[in-house]
Amino acid sequence: METIQEKIAQSVSSIQQKYHNPISLGVILGSGLGTFAEHLSNKTEIPYKDIAHFPLSTVQGHAGKLVLGEIEGKTLAVMSGRFHFYEGYNMQQVVYPIRVLGKLGIKSLIVTNAAGGINKSFVPGDLMLIDDHINLLGTNPLIGPNLDDFGPRFPDMTTAYTPSLKEKALAAAQTNDLPLKRGVYIAITGPSYETPSEIKMMRILGADAVGMSTVPEVIVARQMGINVLGISCITNMAAGILNQPLSHVEVFETAEKTKHKFVSLLKEIVKTI
Ligand code: HPA
Repeated sequence: METIQEKIAQSVSSIQQKYHNPISLGVILGSGLGTFAEHLSNKTEIPYKDIAHFPLSTVQGHAGKLVLGEIEGKTLAVMSGRFHFYEGYNMQQVVYPIRVLGKLGIKSLIVTNAAGGINKSFVPGDLMLIDDHINLLGTNPLIGPNLDDFGPRFPDMTTAYTPSLKEKALAAAQTNDLPLKRGVYIAITGPSYETPSEIKMMRILGADAVGMSTVPEVIVARQMGINVLGISCITNMAAGILNQPLSHVEVFETAEKTKHKFVSLLKEIVKTI
């Protein structure tokens, strides 16, 4: 049996066999946001099933492929489809691709997601710069023996979201007239949506948006010293705010409607990173 370090090295080499350029930036696309990958030039697409040891994605709206290519002279590795804890993957599997991207040499990672708006000043379709997060998953991807090749046992999370990248994102949004809210993302496991009482609790805790991803990936990226930028697409108001039930269809449809704005913002941000 190979060690996790050996498996990751094999994943890295199976990607490098298909794509030879050095990669500086990683991007994870959330539900329904997959069209960003179409904007890359000179691209190579690798289905996750063709990358040694990669988990496979199962959720509708997640294509499950790594797209490597260029935007504005920058070389990117874009994950179209991620692995959620609620799908039944363990935490090691959820964060596996981030460790692979880290060993591929990315210096920065842009994480995106669909999230429910807890802050009542938000409306569906808003984009939110993630200022910070709250981990309400009840677990942590770094539990277990520390992989010293991937960073320290007790990584600092004071600036989980890199201040200079936030500034660049806000500046890119402003110059291009693309409104960008900001706030705290809170992660729960799902897959059930929250109750109105849970949302009230999360608001009291200081959260502005809630979702079922991102936090494990950010923890592992920060452990590796990768700079992180996070953007949420507010696809719906969280439970109990409006007098209507939540549905995955609504989440998907809002993400779909917002994707042009989102892709424009992402492209502008990538230019400045
Ligand atoms: N709750 C949790 N996750 C989500 C939501 C929500 O309201 N919307 C999109 N992802």
